[in-house]
Amino acid sequence: MNTSTGARPRSASAIVDMVDAELAAAMRAQLGEVETRLRETLRAPGDGFLGRASTHLIDAGGKRFRPMMVLLGARFGEPCTEKVLDAAVLAELVHVATLYHDDVMDEAQVRHGAVTANTRWSNTVAVLLGDYLLAKAAELGAGLGDAAMRLQIRTLGRLVHGQMAETVGPQAGADRIGHCMRVMSDKSASLIAMSTRIGAVVTDADSHVADLLEVYGELIGTAFQISDDILDIEADERDLGKAPGTDLREGIVTLPVLYAIEHDPGIADLVAEPIADDTRRAEVIGVLRASPGLERARREAERHVQRAKDVLYDLPSVPARDALFALCDFVTRRTT
Ligand code: IPE
Ligand code: IPE
Ligand code: MG
Ligand code: MG
Repeated sequence: MNTSTGARPRSASAIVDMVDAELAAAMRAQLGEVETRLRETLRAPGDGFLGRASTHLIDAGGKRFRPMMVLLGARFGEPCTEKVLDAAVLAELVHVATLYHDDVMDEAQVRHGAVTANTRWSNTVAVLLGDYLLAKAAELGAGLGDAAMRLQIRTLGRLVHGQMAETVGPQAGADRIGHCMRVMSDKSASLIAMSTRIGAVVTDADSHVADLLEVYGELIGTAFQISDDILDIEADERDLGKAPGTDLREGIVTLPVLYAIEHDPGIADLVAEPIADDTRRAEVIGVLRASPGLERARREAERHVQRAKDVLYDLPSVPARDALFALCDFVTRRTT
């Protein structure tokens, strides 16, 4: 299962293409259907401004990583297209809802190169758009059976816990790295783990397979967030489609920064408060880029990805498993 290319992958779909042409063609068709259904679900006649505005971030772009995880997880069970597509749409709706809300929390102005909903309209509108997507996702979940619905509800709770734990920060004297790992697990990995599991659940896959897929999702989900936090320091806005340095501007101390502080405790003072000033923030980014904290965070992401790969060896050997394997490298090498 060595599908690593060495080069930086352009997109998750391009990786599936390299693994198995038949699987890639099926995935392309299903992801196309997901795109259509995302809009149909949100833009029901009579929904007016809410319906029209709700696709704002979906139209701006997105990797559709979570629907892809649902579709791949579903390959381990019985073919069950309707429920699988609903689950894939559900996962993306929950994800984009968290982005509407997160852009309010982060006072973000740009995502996927487009102006955010909070900037275009207002925080109130953005919060309501996120709520609307969550409501639509709940409607879909209600049709997927008890196990899927309970999974969705549990995930929503974890997402809120994660965002709140990040907002409140660690208690004085607490293990800051442990806190940061829990935040990443709850705010990001939980939804990716839900996505891999729900695909298996709605296709009645073996429960052991569903458990393994969930563990895999949790591990690559954490690596995904570590990569995101590295990109916040390393990337430039053109590649990223969102403003780097946002975490520093909001006073959020991420894993690479915590590692930088372990290496040089003086950095703690630089990031102790939100850094609103652009010049000052650029200086601190320069300090962080020169620190071994970034490399250590990269190794931590790789460690998670390696554990995720190990989990995959216990799954049935089907092309979807090879795709999940190859996507591990996308998570740690992505540039957007
Ligand atoms: C952004 O997720 C939020 C995180 C969990 C880091 P993505 O990077 O998957 O965002 P889209 O879907 O491409 O917009
Ligand atoms: C937020 O993490 C994860 C969510 C639950 C949305 P980030 O704050 O790092 O996500 P970006 O960088 O704004 O996409
Ligand atoms: Mg954010
Ligand atoms: Mg981020």
